This record gives sequence, C-alpha cells and structure tokens, in this order.
Amino acid sequence: MPAAPSTRPARALRGGRPGALLLLGVAVLTSCSSPQSALDPAGPSARRLEALWWGLFAVSAVVWLVVLLCIVYALVRRRGQEVKPRGGGTRAVVVAGLIIPTLVLVGTFVATLSVMRAEAEPPDEPALTIEVIGHLWWWEVRYPDFVTANEIHIPVDRSVRVELRTADVIHSFWVPPLTSKTDLIPNMDNELWLLADEVGVYRGQCAEFCGAQHAGMAFLVIAQPADEFDEWMADQARPAETPTDPLALRGREVIESQSCAACHTVRGTEADGDIGPDLTHFGSRRTLGAGVAPNDPGWLGGWISNSQTIKPGNLMPPQPLAPEDLNALIAYLETLE
Ligand code: CUA
Repeated sequence: MPAAPSTRPARALRGGRPGALLLLGVAVLTSCSSPQSALDPAGPSARRLEALWWGLFAVSAVVWLVVLLCIVYALVRRRGQEVKPRGGGTRAVVVAGLIIPTLVLVGTFVATLSVMRAEAEPPDEPALTIEVIGHLWWWEVRYPDFVTANEIHIPVDRSVRVELRTADVIHSFWVPPLTSKTDLIPNMDNELWLLADEVGVYRGQCAEFCGAQHAGMAFLVIAQPADEFDEWMADQARPAETPTDPLALRGREVIESQSCAACHTVRGTEADGDIGPDLTHFGSRRTLGAGVAPNDPGWLGGWISNSQTIKPGNLMPPQPLAPEDLNALIAYLETLE
C-alpha cells in the first residue's frame, strides 16, 4: 500500500513552522502600512505619536529582554544546585528594583507629557473650521456652507480645525494616520486639528465603544491638492441638480413621496429630514452606512430594501418599495454627485 497521504499535512505543519513565522512576520509588518495605521503617518501630529510609539516600544523591549536574560541566567547557572542564602544584595535590589524603574517610568512619562502638550497646540492658523457630530452610528460633517456625512475632505498642507460634538452617547474621533483620538462627549465641545502633508485617503474610526455598531462607525478623510479641494467645496455647496434621465426623475419623486424625506435631506428637493445623513451629494461619496459597504448600485439597493441585514441595529427601517420604485431611487441617488 502506498504511504498514507494523511500524514502529509502533519509533516507540512511541522516543517512549516518557519513558514508560519514568516507569514506572521509579513502579517505584522504589512499591518503597519494601511490607510488606518498610526505607524504609517501622513501628518505632523501622527508623526510625533509614531516617534513616541517606537520610543516606548524600544524601552519596553529592552526591559523585557533584560528581565528575560536574568531569568535564563538564574535558571542555567544554578541548575540542580541548592541555593544557599549569601546575604547582601541590597544594593542590587535598590538599583534594579527602585532606581532603574523610577528613571524609566519618569523618562517615559515626561516624553508622553511633552507629546500630549504638543498635541493640544494648534499647528497654525486653520484654513477652515468644520463641525463633526457623532450619531449612533454615523458622522455628520458640517462645513460652513453645507452638510455632508461620513466623508471629510481637507486641503493638503493646511490645517483644519474640527469641532467635535455628539448627538447622543460618547464617541471618539480617530484618524490614526493623521492625529490622536479625541472624544465627543455630551454637553461638551472638544476640538482637534487635521493636517495632512500627503495627498491621500485616510480611514478614521470611532474609538470609544458606543453600541452594537461601534465597529461600523467609520469615515474617510480625503486630503486633496488645494484646487481639487476648492472644486469639491463648490460642488458640495450647490443644491441637488434636477435629473434629465426619466428613471432618475421618477426616483426623485420616490424620495419626496416616501418616508425617506422624513429622515433625509436632499437640498433642492422637498426632502428635508434631519435624522439621517444629508444625501444632497450622496453619489459623490465612496462608502455607505458609515464605511460598512462600498457605494455602488448593488449595495445601495440592499441598503434601502433592508439595511438591517447589512448593519443590524441602525436607525433606518426596511423600505419595502416596489421594484420599479427601488430602481428609480437607486438611479436618482447615484446622480447626486
Ligand atoms: Cu461611536 Cu463607537
């Protein structure tokens, strides 16, 4: 009989240990480079925090290594021997147990304090001030001339002051590649500054547990060259255009006549609800449901029909529309660029 093939996986597992370690290493290293990594900074604030992170990591690694070497030394040196108390050793205890830990802790504390202080300072005169309001579970973003949701555009190399408020519970605003996190606390106004010195799309995330969809409370920060940003601002400030396509036109009637209008605003139409996100330029956004799905017609249809299957617990109830109405609504929403 040929050798049982069933032994192969076991052998592969044993022989595959270096491979597994390599895979783990790759996973750890690549996880440092993503649109949502604090170790892949794209602005002065995040760069400061990254330096602190690596500093604390290095200090911790050295302490860990020294303690481990001491343990290994003690195990090897006195193996099988009876340990006789020799007396003395007080100096070693004072130095290694008191003085060195105190120096290490005070040093890291001072380094952390200085970074915290720098974080509280505005980087320069802000190019503009926006307001971000946390909701269960999405982000309302108020620019001086319009309101949008779950997507923040900023000009590259210019700081933007962000006023943080919440409509319900405590949330926390965090864009790891750009800045430290700041909580949105009921009855309290907080602020932070966004400053990106590289054009890019950065992912932010609520960082304070706020309920079932805490993890589904993401947003994008899009740093653009000044001219692109100005163009975006001008586009967003305009009311929604009347569609020329008959299907989309019918979709507009759907949004105005159905329950959508009670919760959502589309400027330029009769929809003026203020419970859910403003949809005036919904078609220009990259995601829907605060980052839980891409903004494409398929996901949008699923979201409108029953968003509870995509993001259970969110406030939007299922919309049992006739298929023609649903198609028309999707066509209309996608024209809202
Ligand atoms: Cu909002 Cu967690």
